[in-house]
Amino acid sequence: MRSDAWATAVAHPNIALVKYWGKRDEDLILPLADSLSMTLDIFPTTTTVRLMPGQGQDSAFLDGIPASGQARRRIAAFLDLVRDRTGSTVRARVDTVNTVPVGAGLASSAAGFAALAVAAATVYDAGLDTVGLSRLARRGSGSACRSVFGGFVQWYAAYPGIPDPDQASYAQPLGDVQLELALIAVLVDTGPKPVSSREAMTRTVSTSRLFPRWLAATLEDVPAMRAALRDGDIARVGAIAERSAMGMHDTMEAAVPPVRYRTPASRHVLGLVRAMRARGEQTWATMDAGANVKVLCPPGDAPRIAAELASMSGSRTVIAGPGPAATLTLGDW
Ligand code: PMV
Repeated sequence: MRSDAWATAVAHPNIALVKYWGKRDEDLILPLADSLSMTLDIFPTTTTVRLMPGQGQDSAFLDGIPASGQARRRIAAFLDLVRDRTGSTVRARVDTVNTVPVGAGLASSAAGFAALAVAAATVYDAGLDTVGLSRLARRGSGSACRSVFGGFVQWYAAYPGIPDPDQASYAQPLGDVQLELALIAVLVDTGPKPVSSREAMTRTVSTSRLFPRWLAATLEDVPAMRAALRDGDIARVGAIAERSAMGMHDTMEAAVPPVRYRTPASRHVLGLVRAMRARGEQTWATMDAGANVKVLCPPGDAPRIAAELASMSGSRTVIAGPGPAATLTLGDW
């Protein structure tokens, strides 16, 4: 490690086709179930980490604005994990540029922590392979472990009984997927979400009476989705993805107090997707911790469906396909 080292990494968000919602270890960020996702080719995050010998604490700039409070602490705690591995005490400056609204359920934290993991592990010379980077990204934001890889990805939960769950919980790309899939992001609301996904998840696990049922369904949805992806069966992929997402939202709306990310605008778009399907279109909806709706469909249909959704909802639509793994773009170390 050179004291003037810096590195820049780029990562993309991922959208879960079988959702992660609920941890069994809040500190290690171990999920209660496996999840499956597609990394997207839109909305990349670019992060530079620069060692700052002599600087008393880590600093972070999000789109050029100094981060403070919880955001800065989260980044500093993440850098501590990297320094713990390497024995370094040198502080760093982190510069992150997002191309997506932050905190709007568009997976900015997944792309952000995947890019931070790659750049920080490089400057601190942590000696991690891609699986190690995925484990590290997981500690920043669970879903970030999937954005280390491109295409279709599975995150392994490390079920109880596994001797070292921290080591056993990471993501891996799926090598055997035949499917051609597009995703249309329908941006009904790009403002920050009312409750953080971290807090919403904890509340759902501890208070929602629907949670055990949702978890049991997820344990069945993972192998069913694996098989549907392997078979390239878009109708099965879409149906499982939609029931996983809607089940997750039903479950969090049953929390006390309820977590409500679906707004009237989201419900309007969900209705449009159902109506399109009823007339024979291949469209299925998914949503994350925010009001925006993402629509799965065949790539050839995406421009037509996106235009119709935009005109019917008055919202901006963005078409995505499978995206690349996180990469180191520049560096000097
Ligand atoms: O990684 P987190 O803590 O932001 O959790 C996000 C979870 C969902 O996006 C709602 C679902 C998922 O599997 O990505």
